[in-house]
Amino acid sequence: MSLSHTSSVSDTQSQNDRVLGPRFREKITSAKAAARLVQPAATVGLSGFGGANHPKAVPPAIARLADEQRAREGHHDYRLGLLTGASTARGADGVLADAGAIAWRVPYNADAELRRQINDLEVDYVEVHLSRLAQQVREGYFGRMHTAIVEVAGITADGELIPGSSLGNNQAWLDEADQVILEVNSWQPIELDGAHDVYQNLGLPLNGTPIPLKHVNQHIGSPHLHVPIEKVVAVVLTDLPDESPAFTDPDADSRAMAGIILDFFEHEVKAGRMPADTLLPLQSGVGNVANAVLASLATSQYRGLNCYSELIQDGMIDLIDSGVVGFASATALALSPAKFEQVKKNIGFYRDHIVLRPQEISNNPELIRRLGVVAMNSMVEADIYGNVNSTHVNGTRVVNGLGGSGDYGRNGYLSVFMSPSTAKGGAISKIVPFAAHIDHTEHDTQVLVTERGLADLRGLSPVRRARTIIDNVAHPDYQGALNDYLERARAKGGHVPHLFDEAFEWYARFERTGSMLPQ
Ligand code: COA
Repeated sequence: MSLSHTSSVSDTQSQNDRVLGPRFREKITSAKAAARLVQPAATVGLSGFGGANHPKAVPPAIARLADEQRAREGHHDYRLGLLTGASTARGADGVLADAGAIAWRVPYNADAELRRQINDLEVDYVEVHLSRLAQQVREGYFGRMHTAIVEVAGITADGELIPGSSLGNNQAWLDEADQVILEVNSWQPIELDGAHDVYQNLGLPLNGTPIPLKHVNQHIGSPHLHVPIEKVVAVVLTDLPDESPAFTDPDADSRAMAGIILDFFEHEVKAGRMPADTLLPLQSGVGNVANAVLASLATSQYRGLNCYSELIQDGMIDLIDSGVVGFASATALALSPAKFEQVKKNIGFYRDHIVLRPQEISNNPELIRRLGVVAMNSMVEADIYGNVNSTHVNGTRVVNGLGGSGDYGRNGYLSVFMSPSTAKGGAISKIVPFAAHIDHTEHDTQVLVTERGLADLRGLSPVRRARTIIDNVAHPDYQGALNDYLERARAKGGHVPHLFDEAFEWYARFERTGSMLPQ
């Protein structure tokens, strides 16, 4: 039974009315009481993806317990292992990191303080392809999950959980955890009920069945999450908003990249590799650049495109508004506060244009390849052969993490990585001789785009790829030095020619002088 499609509950009703299941109502308690049920060294699975739908009351309450113990005893015992869908926000990762309460974290983080602790080796951080994490948890790589803390929008009279703005790994955590704390958040739009498609593909590979998803807009599972009532130890009521990041307005570089990508689509249509009317399902990665490129597609002539992605960011909402996108499948509605307010006001309209799926499905390699997804992800840098670094600045300090870039980058029908050609006002070239950290190999990268142009690497050998990348997408300030490197490396020979002592000198020079530009 659904809440939103009955007359019994509307968004304006009290928080209590979001919990209709009588046995769940008996478990309503305070965030502090729920926090006390989490052991200080527990392995905890949180809901949350892209700043959307993380629990917002219990993590701060756990942080307060840690702070209180520290004030009393000079130290605290809280060292949690935290697993999520992807990034949460200040209200979960942030407060727990501030309290020094995270021992290890999987699979993705975007909080600045936690990033500092990871880079200063105070917190163990394991990046995992987002499609794979639930399976790895089921298989026991991370030990037992003691507690799941999952935010939902409501609980029906039948005890079904109405999901909120993301699905991520929520059903997997509800299945795997020994005990479950539910946060029922009346800020989450209950009218999204029906826009979720919870499908689990369990079992070892030999027992697996093909996932029956044939179309981006198809529903193959349940609209609701499920948990046995016996596992639920607390239900906490909240009304706190999501904390997905706001984006910068598209700048000239992003608009240029969007134009280049649109021209490329036309080129692919003419070559018979994409259908003219609908193209192929689009995926757009995380960050300002990906969001801006997506938003810029609003000026295109396309109508009714499909998206098969992990995030619906602000830019995708604009595309739905303008009719450029007809339908978007993802695992999270990760919208800035202003954009979420817009969506909430017209939620019935958007519910007909989106579906949210577990990340095992939104990021599933077989589906991504079979549906023919065009993957467009931002990058930290690429090297002249097409190896892409999505994660580590100067090869060492993590920015966010791998996220779903590998799920889509390797498996997309077409795999595009994009970025401005320089960073830090031109002091850093995004095209380097040899990337000091590689997330996506030369074999995965098909197309590189910067504001300078597009490098189509399909069908090219390494040295031809290098020439194409340097000529088409590197910034002119760095083209001379990159060509010089390539030619001297070629003179030395090898299928993928390199001068090792010089390659990493680009990073060393930046560390010494604050610029990669040749002195
Ligand atoms: N060297 C040093 N710093 C760099 C850099 C480089 N090569 N590339 C980017 N940066 C810095 C930028 O200067 C900026 O720093 P600032 O905020 O201090 O100015 C910051 O990193 C973010 O760069 P920006 O160009 O705004 O990128 P973005 O917001 O588009 O994000 C990624 C780019 C790569 C960090 C982001 O897309 C990411 O985390 N990707 C990995 C996960 C992923 O792709 N998921 C997609 C699957 S849906």
